[in-house]
Parts: sequence; C-alpha cells; structure tokens
Amino acid sequence: MQFGSETQPQSAQRMYDSRAASYEDSWHPSYAIRFTSHLSIAPGDAVLDLCCGTGLKVFAAAEKVGPTGSVVGVDVSDGMLAQARQKQAANPEVGKRCLLLKGDVAKLDEVFAAAGLGGKKGAFDWITCSSAFVLLDDPSAALAHWKAFLKPGGRMAIDVPHEHNLRAGAILERVAKRLRVAMPFNRSWVESSESFIKLAEKEGLEVEKFELLERVMGEKISYYSLDEADEQFDKVVNGSLTTKLDVEEFKEKARPLFHEEWAKAAVDGKVAVADALYLYILRKAGQS
Ligand SMILES: C[S@@+](CC[C@H](N)C(=O)[O-])C[C@H]1O[C@@H](n2cnc3c(N)ncnc32)[C@H](O)[C@@H]1O
Repeated sequence: MQFGSETQPQSAQRMYDSRAASYEDSWHPSYAIRFTSHLSIAPGDAVLDLCCGTGLKVFAAAEKVGPTGSVVGVDVSDGMLAQARQKQAANPEVGKRCLLLKGDVAKLDEVFAAAGLGGKKGAFDWITCSSAFVLLDDPSAALAHWKAFLKPGGRMAIDVPHEHNLRAGAILERVAKRLRVAMPFNRSWVESSESFIKLAEKEGLEVEKFELLERVMGEKISYYSLDEADEQFDKVVNGSLTTKLDVEEFKEKARPLFHEEWAKAAVDGKVAVADALYLYILRKAGQS
C-alpha cells in the first residue's frame, strides 16, 4: 500500500511546517531546559544542534556557550526555522551567537556548502539532537555522518523515546511494517536502553553516560486494557504525525493487525505506557 513517494526529509518538512505555529504550546519548552541541564557545554564551545526546530535547544545552548561560543542549528522545516528566527531577532545579544541553516541533517556537507561554509568537519565540541532522532531513516548512518563533524574528544547528546513511550505509535509502526506502508518515524529498533548503546558503540562512539528521564510530559505510567485497542488505534491514526494514514483503505487493513500487536504487547492483560526518554551522552575518541 503506497501513500505517495515522499522522502524522510520531505515528510518531516510537511508535518512540521503545519505544526510550527503551535509547536511550543506543549511540553517542549520545559523539556528543553531539562535536556540542556544535563550537558556540560562550556563557555566558548561550538555547538551543532541537529533538527533544531523552533530553536529551543539552540538558544539554551547559546546561553551556555556565552559570547565567545557559537551554535549552529539545522532543520528542514521553513515553518520551524521561521519561529527560531523570530526568537533570534527578539534577542540579538544571544541571537548573534546562533546561525540557523535549512537542510537535511543526513547531508551536512551540502547544508554547510549551501551556506558557503566549508571546513566544518571536526569543528564542533558538541552535537545535540533532541526529540528527533527516531524520525530518521537510518540511525547508524546518522551517527557515522555526524561523528565526522565532532572535534576529537567532542560529545553528542541525543534523546530517544523509551520503548513504552507513546506506545500506540510504536505499535502502529509495527503494523505499518507488516503492511509495507512507510511511517514518518522509525523507532521500532528501540527495544531497551541497550539498543542505542549498541548503535553508538558500533560507530566507535563511547557512551559516557545515559539517563532515564521520566515524566517528560508530567505524566505517570499508565496502563491500558485490551478493550482500549480500538480507541488507541483511532487516536494514533488521526494524530499529527500520521495524518496520511487517516485513510479508509489503511484503517481497514491496519485495525485488526493493531489489535493483534496490542494484545502481544500486553502483560497480564495491560499495555503499559511510559512518559519517558533515554538521554545519551556520547564521546568521540581523542583529546580536544
Ligand atoms: C519534534 S521536532 C524537535 C525540534 C527540536 N529539536 C526540539 O527539541 O524542540 C523534530 C524536528 O526535526 C526536524 N527534522 C526531521 N527530519 C529532519 C531531517 N532529515 N533534516 C533536518 N531536520 C529534520 C523537523 O523539521 C522538526 O523541526
């Protein structure tokens, strides 16, 4: 079953252009402060924030790097970048430390070249990517590509949803795979806290620390019964990330498979949903 032939950056651009104006009416601003508080970004550091969106982490990092540091944000959505540019203009003192670039984070050479910036390989003390890593098609390729832009001894901070986070979405992804329908996110590889560690170590990145961040949206673990599968299915196919799946042909085929996968996910008749993310700090070998 096909719903068009959008590439990953094209579908991200479409989804986030339409969400941009209301993106920050959410848990994201408070989470940006929490995320950044775990990072030892120092004055003078050069930071690259990938999938920067409305710039929440860009400007939080810009406070930390101070007047001698710099932050580059990259995102594919004009709508999200427009929000970030408004913030930059509203605070020129901090804004002048920040450069916002449009492009695909899987093709950073092209992004920098289009901005007339060569020589960015090995240039950054920190690469951050928050609330976005599981949107990417190929997580291993992303880590390998990004590593080249870190200085020796440089660090990456990346968050990844807990395997029980937004469970209906994860279960829908399994169903979509069975139906060979492309989804705008890719998180079924996250089976436990170890999944990302394995990916990072395979790319030669040391996992310096990882944290489980709970109650990101302020919620407790919830448990859903088997009877709630239909309601959860309707909610997720109508959700902002999956608008293209709200079509009758898909829903008809997917609903019974969703019931099956929901039942498989249940323990003692209940499906647990956790409001939690893993935050990983990775280090590239060498001295900076
Ligand atoms: C949930 S938002 C996160 C924004 C920001 N990092 C934050 O924490 O608030 C995901 C962002 O990833 C961007 N994105 C997704 N895939 C991308 C890609 N391949 N290249 C650049 N940006 C991408 C989207 O445009 C969107 O702004």
